Amino acid sequence: MPTWNTRQYERYTDERGRPFHDLVGRIGAAEPSYVVDLGCGTGELTATLAERWPEAMVHGEDSSPEMLKCAAAQAIPGRLDFTRADIRDWVPPRGVDVLVTNAALQWVPGHLELLDQLIRALRPGGWFAMQVPGNFDAPSHVLLTELRESPRWRERLGDDAVRPGAHGAAEYLAALAALGCVVDAWETTYLHVLAGPDPVLEWTRGTALLPVLDRLDDADAAEFEGEYAAALRAAYPPRDGRTMLPFRRVFAVAEKQR
Ligand SMILES: C[S@@+](CC[C@H](N)C(=O)[O-])C[C@H]1O[C@@H](n2cnc3c(N)ncnc32)[C@H](O)[C@@H]1O
Repeated sequence: MPTWNTRQYERYTDERGRPFHDLVGRIGAAEPSYVVDLGCGTGELTATLAERWPEAMVHGEDSSPEMLKCAAAQAIPGRLDFTRADIRDWVPPRGVDVLVTNAALQWVPGHLELLDQLIRALRPGGWFAMQVPGNFDAPSHVLLTELRESPRWRERLGDDAVRPGAHGAAEYLAALAALGCVVDAWETTYLHVLAGPDPVLEWTRGTALLPVLDRLDDADAAEFEGEYAAALRAAYPPRDGRTMLPFRRVFAVAEKQR
């Protein structure tokens, strides 16, 4: 897993928060008592779950010490807490009423097979809600892959760094329906309008670029970023000081049958 830079991640709070709100807006749970946010990150979005369901105990779980340190500021004794856990082997102490995982499963290779385990964690009638990016064939990712695999960088970077990946909405729908859920799955392409110089580079610095930057010293990282930034400028030309970043995201909300 990459080392998360929480300040960089939080630079696009509004753009990153919107899909979370669109996702949880489709959860129909009325009075859940046990709510979990898997891969909770900085915890700000997890805190909105505690606001929506004031009677519930809400747990944020994440594998990153950097993210958890930041999330600790959101904790509310008896209502909202954060602990370290890996999605791959997470087992709740009791049946979960609402399980949310937003922008996290793309970092878990083979996560389609993990859905069985996640749905089993729900009590009958419980809700599962997931969102993953669906932009891995967008220029921002394709150019990054091309650059890291170029003769110049391939050896220095190696090829064992985690690469995020995800499936289409239809695949999540089919997988969750096969697990006995009633499923609502969809895709949305957000058109983010970003300001400032090299905003797509800034965006990827908070996510997809992290596994690359983790492997390079400062001088190499600056050189890699310079090459990547030039390619991004050509792929996402600014207009009147603004740059449009189309960002496709994939959503699935599943209600486990009683
Ligand atoms: C892009 S951030 C999203 C954070 C938050 N859910 C949000 O929407 O802002 C991805 C998060 O997933 C966490 N994560 C990735 N793989 C994980 C795993 N195997 N187990 C637990 N957390 C994981 C990362 O540490 C990171 O905090």
